[in-house]
Amino acid sequence: MLDNRPPLPPEIARRRTFAIIAHPDAGKTTLTEKFLLFGGAIQMAGQVRAKGEARRTRSDFMKLEQDRGISVSASAMSFDYREFRFNLVDTPGHSDFSEDTYRTLTAVDAAIMVIDGAKGVESQTRKLFEVCRLRDLPILTFCNKMDRESRDTFEIIDEIQENLAIDVAPASWPIGSGREFLGAYDLMNDRLELMDRADRNKVAETVQITGLDDPKLADHIPADLLAKLREEVEMARELLPAFDRAAFLNGSMTPIWFGSAINSFGVKELMEGIGNFGPEPQPQKASERMVGAEETPVTGFVFKVQANMDPKHRDRVAFVRLASGHFERGMKMLHVRSKKPMAVTNPVLFLAADRELTEEAWAGDIIGIPNHGQLRIGDALTEGEALRFTGIPSFAPELLQSVRATDPMKAKHLEKALMQFAEEGAAKVFKPMIGSGFIVGVVGALQFDVLASRIEIEYGIPVRFEGSGFTSARWIAGPQDEMDKLINVNKQHIAVDNDGDMVFLTRLQWDIDRVIRDYPALKLTATKEMM
Ligand code: G4P
Repeated sequence: MLDNRPPLPPEIARRRTFAIIAHPDAGKTTLTEKFLLFGGAIQMAGQVRAKGEARRTRSDFMKLEQDRGISVSASAMSFDYREFRFNLVDTPGHSDFSEDTYRTLTAVDAAIMVIDGAKGVESQTRKLFEVCRLRDLPILTFCNKMDRESRDTFEIIDEIQENLAIDVAPASWPIGSGREFLGAYDLMNDRLELMDRADRNKVAETVQITGLDDPKLADHIPADLLAKLREEVEMARELLPAFDRAAFLNGSMTPIWFGSAINSFGVKELMEGIGNFGPEPQPQKASERMVGAEETPVTGFVFKVQANMDPKHRDRVAFVRLASGHFERGMKMLHVRSKKPMAVTNPVLFLAADRELTEEAWAGDIIGIPNHGQLRIGDALTEGEALRFTGIPSFAPELLQSVRATDPMKAKHLEKALMQFAEEGAAKVFKPMIGSGFIVGVVGALQFDVLASRIEIEYGIPVRFEGSGFTSARWIAGPQDEMDKLINVNKQHIAVDNDGDMVFLTRLQWDIDRVIRDYPALKLTATKEMM
């Protein structure tokens, strides 16, 4: 990522836009909370305790909001730390792998991977890591829960290197573990960081030393632990690669910090790491060209749409990653898909403790634009150029189930709820030509549970998902007369999606092959572009 691009304006250069990836329970929420605390966005941190399925199916930020009584956004948060502006984008908390997560990761320039020191690389960590790898995202690693019995430090590092095929450079080295955990040796700055067990929100005490031979170390570390530390660090320096910023920025090396989020330990060092090593807002790929953050005209793309953020208002917020320029409230933008102008009069920035109207934003920032459904995932906003940002994936639905309201009187309401989720990109919704009801297509089975619970919570409609008899969906495009011919003789296979586009549903690959053979003028596709 280091290249010959011109330096960014200082306001843009100070921005760091990133996500946290973790297996459930590794400590993502706790770490987020500490970020907000040190970023001055909240005044007090406590343990966030909300258990059960509900917790997993809702955004963790929403959980924070409920539990802490603070107003934070469900999808993006901005806060300042030192001279930096951090934009933290939430990845959905539930353990099924959803499309949302992929799309979220298209909006960030880096990711923090949190692993549990006792568990190492877990299944969800690996999946999320693979998505980051597809985009060569720089990754910083935080090995959490070092205050508990954890695995041997070399073993953890080896596991990451082998499992994820990435070089690991220790930025700190833990001293002891579990009850004996004292803190860490900061390998980047030759400092000693000591954890305060008495106050969980207190930042570690830093002891300036001249290196591992400094006699001062013995004042703070018992002899056996000190001997072990010296030996391990010596070995680490010999066997493990030193931190190389270029390798980090191109995604082939991750620096690792050892800490304990709940004890606020190692968190500031991690924040310094993101700040100091970057990356700055990166160029974004459009099908026409690369769009550099330093370009003056404002451009951005929608990577997420969220409805019902406030249950009292049926509002819908489109989350836009600004790719370039200096955005000012009230700006007239071109909504590229509809070719219509759009005055952005009420953008919100999720700054500090509030969702606030923002007067301005810069490339790298995430702004929320309340709207009535005009803005969809993948849409571009520009100052006139017809750009199409690429890289926002569209997914072929792999599981198709029909859905029914348990109360038939609620069928109409259910339709509305389903359309809303389809527009959010949470599911594909099909209305078959024959029969009543709807068919919902998703990528991961758990998404059905998530949808059922959201439909019940947000719309008060209990629903049931059941087998639809279909396993594949293909969008059909082509000359109208050919389409009509196909539809006339295959009504039982035809449905329309929420945009009114025709879809062919089937259980057999044979059926698809037959249509391709018999209707050469028609095109069948497994995904629909998000445009
Ligand atoms: P998640 O968002 O990644 O799912 O994890 P979350 O932050 O909710 O943390 C999961 C559990 O791990 C929480 O416990 C949290 O308090 C605990 N935890 C987080 N960081 C640390 C740490 O540094 N050390 C220790 N020992 N625990 C940590 P919980 O849900 O309250 O359950 P319980 O463990 O209190 O029963």
